[in-house]
Amino acid sequence: MNIRSIDSSDAEAFAALRRAVTRENPVQMGLSYVEEAGRTIDSFREQLSFSHPNTMVGCFAQEVLVATAAVGYTSRFPSSRHKMVMWGVFTSPGYRRKGLSRQVVGAAIQHAFSNGVRRINLQVYVPNEPALSLYKSFGFVEYGVEPEAVYLDGHYHDGVHMTLVQKQA
Ligand SMILES: CC(C)(COP(=O)(O)OP(=O)(O)OC[C@H]1O[C@@H](n2cnc3c(N)ncnc32)[C@H](O)[C@@H]1OP(=O)(O)O)[C@@H](O)C(=O)NCCC(=O)NCCS
Repeated sequence: MNIRSIDSSDAEAFAALRRAVTRENPVQMGLSYVEEAGRTIDSFREQLSFSHPNTMVGCFAQEVLVATAAVGYTSRFPSSRHKMVMWGVFTSPGYRRKGLSRQVVGAAIQHAFSNGVRRINLQVYVPNEPALSLYKSFGFVEYGVEPEAVYLDGHYHDGVHMTLVQKQA
């Protein structure tokens, strides 16, 4: 396994991974496979065009992208630079339960906290016990629920908000 930051030059690999995960886990990804498959490669390139310190960590198995986790500012203003949102956490269906999310999520958290960020927020569309368990194991706590955050296949799904604050040394 090779872990490194990914960028717009990895757009095709990122699109392939997102489409594979969305096909199996539309609720957890927050959109349908048809919506995801309809995106252009340019939209993935744009999504991966980061300005430091925003980043996405990718894990490659034999040069194939199999897991990702990203952190980014929610605003360009200094008043919001103490916090980031974590997004893009997913592992290829054939590579789950091998500790890959633990590695990329851990690297993304470390990156945020090493760049002056004090708090990381995220949202989990439920049900999603694997993701809730993953984030809790890093110390994320729930702080609220967005009712009916996404509507897929005729059902509404809530979004659980979670937050992690950097431990003081
Ligand atoms: C959630 C997800 C990212 C976990 O990825 P993974 O690479 O399989 O996770 P890991 O092997 O690194 O496991 C790390 C921890 O996650 C939790 N976890 C992972 N899969 C789990 C499962 N099936 N059931 C319960 N907990 C699970 C556990 O806490 C695990 O730690 P442990 O192995 O010590 O028990 C993966 O299942 C996935 O891609 N799901 C679909 C997309 C998604 O839900 N993304 C999150 C959006 S918020």
